[in-house]
Amino acid sequence: MPEHPTSHVPPVEPTGTPVRRRRWPFLAGPAVALAGVGLLAGTLVSPAGATGGGTDPGHPGHPGGPATATVEPFGTAPDGTPVERWTLTNGGVTMRVLTYGGIIQTLEVPDRWGQAENVVLGFPDVAGYAADTDPYFGSIIGRYGNRIAAGAFELDGASYQLPLNDGPNTLHGGPEGFDDRVWAAKPVGGEGEAALQLDLVSPAGDQGFPGTLTTTVTYRLDAEGALTVHYRATTDAPTVVNLTQHSYFNLAGEGSGTIYDHELQIAASGYTPVDETLIPTGEVAPVEGTPFDFRTPVAIGERIRQADQQLLYGQGYDHNWALDREDDGDREGSDAEDGLEKAAVLHDPDSGRTMTVSTTEPGLQFYSGNFLDGTLVGTGGGAYRQGDGLALETQHFPDSPNQPEFPSTELRPGEVYDSTTVFEFDD
Ligand code: BGC
Repeated sequence: MPEHPTSHVPPVEPTGTPVRRRRWPFLAGPAVALAGVGLLAGTLVSPAGATGGGTDPGHPGHPGGPATATVEPFGTAPDGTPVERWTLTNGGVTMRVLTYGGIIQTLEVPDRWGQAENVVLGFPDVAGYAADTDPYFGSIIGRYGNRIAAGAFELDGASYQLPLNDGPNTLHGGPEGFDDRVWAAKPVGGEGEAALQLDLVSPAGDQGFPGTLTTTVTYRLDAEGALTVHYRATTDAPTVVNLTQHSYFNLAGEGSGTIYDHELQIAASGYTPVDETLIPTGEVAPVEGTPFDFRTPVAIGERIRQADQQLLYGQGYDHNWALDREDDGDREGSDAEDGLEKAAVLHDPDSGRTMTVSTTEPGLQFYSGNFLDGTLVGTGGGAYRQGDGLALETQHFPDSPNQPEFPSTELRPGEVYDSTTVFEFDD
């Protein structure tokens, strides 16, 4: 049996009917939101700790006060660069973002009783994220999400060799990827929004990639508590780019046990099988009749132990799904022409929390936290074990620079990499 959270005893609703968070009016006026951001940016505020404080919905199910973005110092990166922690609040959701790696450290979301809980895995301090053992908790991944075979590719007749950091391959942009950089942050929330813009310039040759890559990632919490992640990048020389967000979700609450009883639906009739080093074979295989068929909601634990070679290679789910899209999801210079389409729905029956993921990207990496082994201690003070969180990484397909049949990840001068993913929460 999957584990269930033991620490969470939901308050009983007098009517027996869960409070619908979205019924409550959003209270913040635009002036309040803007003033809040403007006044508090650059000042020290004191949330009670990594996982506590900050959110006070006041009443269960109530979205709480105005949209705010506040900042506090949060230690230093290994090279001594100061790190900030930003707290964004809106629509009953509170998230804490580090300028180190653009990491979403915590994300507090109400359950069906209006009880807010942190639903992502993370570390209490920068040291945890800076250590080699960090499995990319909550971070922005760049320049290239997932694997590039042998860390090698050719572009316009030139050969590039990246440093290897995952056996024979390069993973998530190399050993010093965007997850290990300190980003410049500024609040940019418009009317009724709490939003943070993160900027990073990656010089030509960074981790072996050609071209200076100028990258902006924006986190935006709207009045409904939906989180939009927008990525934009330009280059001064031909290169390859594949950015994503690597949060590990557990909708029952961080540290509450495994995600095996979460129900997952993925809008994909195909996925990309891998070899034993988790590099795609190049095929887009039908999910029909396999444990990879999530076209209707299925509990994650239901088939994860089946005798399936692909599950054995990944030690569980660690694959890219080729999303069924109205448009082709191809970049063709810019993703801006591609629509936001529903990719996945994740539901925790116990808490009632539901997360819907929509994206402009053609692929989704579903990773079921297979390599968590009990050695990492998280924000809540407990150890993370296998399956204690899962990642849903919207992206172009792994190893695309070496797979001519996959949607292209090339970016050239004059083109704009423009990609959007929305995480909506419901109860
Ligand atoms: C990869 C996994 C990897 C994990 C953490 C996922 O995106 O597919 O193989 O272990 O990230 O690094």
